[in-house]
Amino acid sequence: MKLMRLLILVALVSLLAGPAFAEDYTYTGVKKCKTCHKPAKIGGQYGIWLEGAHARAFTDLTSEAGLAKAKELGVENPAEADACLSCHTTGHAAPAEAKVKVLPASGVSCEACHGAGKGYYKKKTMVAITAGTVDGATVGMNKITEETCLACHKADNPGHKGTFDYEEFLKKIAHPMPAK
Ligand code: HEC
Ligand code: HEC
Ligand code: HEC
Ligand code: HEC
Repeated sequence: MKLMRLLILVALVSLLAGPAFAEDYTYTGVKKCKTCHKPAKIGGQYGIWLEGAHARAFTDLTSEAGLAKAKELGVENPAEADACLSCHTTGHAAPAEAKVKVLPASGVSCEACHGAGKGYYKKKTMVAITAGTVDGATVGMNKITEETCLACHKADNPGHKGTFDYEEFLKKIAHPMPAK
């Protein structure tokens, strides 16, 4: 009888625990990251991003330059075209239910590079990843490499400059945490 109860308990616990983090690719949206990554004492990553080109990626699609580029490429409405949104927004290829919290207007936000945040955004997990006791990859956080950028900064991107220099571009978007 005791064994039976134990088995039921184990089954219940695994049910409540839900899917493993690694399978959870739901986006939290940039507002969630902002709640902890805006203060200067953590490095003000939110503000740095907001001032940069990635935060403008969506709104630029309908700027004068965006509309001109769209016309040149034969795209009628850039703010609704997959041909533009695939690189000018976050998680464009993800299923709709995984990105309910992603506003297109946020452009290329944190999770476009760091990975969908649902599995890692909690403070306890963030601290553990930083301390090295949890491998970010097991909770959906990307190990960022040049490939991460090249998904969008392609050399053969029609109508774009195609002058991507990884080291130089990394410097332009730098948003480190202050040294402890
Ligand atoms: C509840 C607060 C909180 C939220 C929400 C949060 N973070 Fe963090 N994050 C932290 C803290 C605190 C640290 C640093 C921990 C430390 O220094 O011990 C951190 C560290 C990080 C790191 C560094 C990890 C490493 O490898 O050292 C990255 C990258 C990061 N956060 C990205 C994000 C992104 C992207 C989001 C939104 C999806 C997010 N964070 C949401 C609190 C948060
Ligand atoms: C394969 C990814 C990708 C696609 C698809 C894409 N873009 Fe871009 N776009 C980029 C990248 C990367 C940059 C930044 C280039 C740089 O400055 O090095 C950029 C920059 C821009 C800029 C601002 C800088 C400039 O060069 O004038 C505009 C405007 C723009 N894109 C419009 C569009 C439009 C309109 C579409 C759809 C017809 C589109 N893009 C499709 C990746 C893409
Ligand atoms: C265009 C890609 C990109 C975007 C967008 C982006 N990051 Fe990063 N982030 C990086 C890279 C590259 C690094 C440095 C290498 C690394 O830590 O993997 C980094 C590092 C960090 C770190 C760790 C810094 C350290 O000192 O260890 C934090 C925290 C962070 N990002 C948070 C954010 C938050 C919050 C946002 C959104 C407000 C964001 N990032 C948007 C690419 C990006
Ligand atoms: C989801 C697509 C995407 C990813 C991933 C991405 N970028 Fe971008 N990036 C863009 C777009 C789109 C623009 C142009 C935004 C605009 O000007 O409207 C841009 C612009 C930039 C700019 C400004 C270029 C300029 O001429 O001033 C820098 C720097 C940059 N990206 C660096 C990076 C780095 C470094 C990485 C990887 C760590 C990265 N990006 C990953 C889409 C992306």
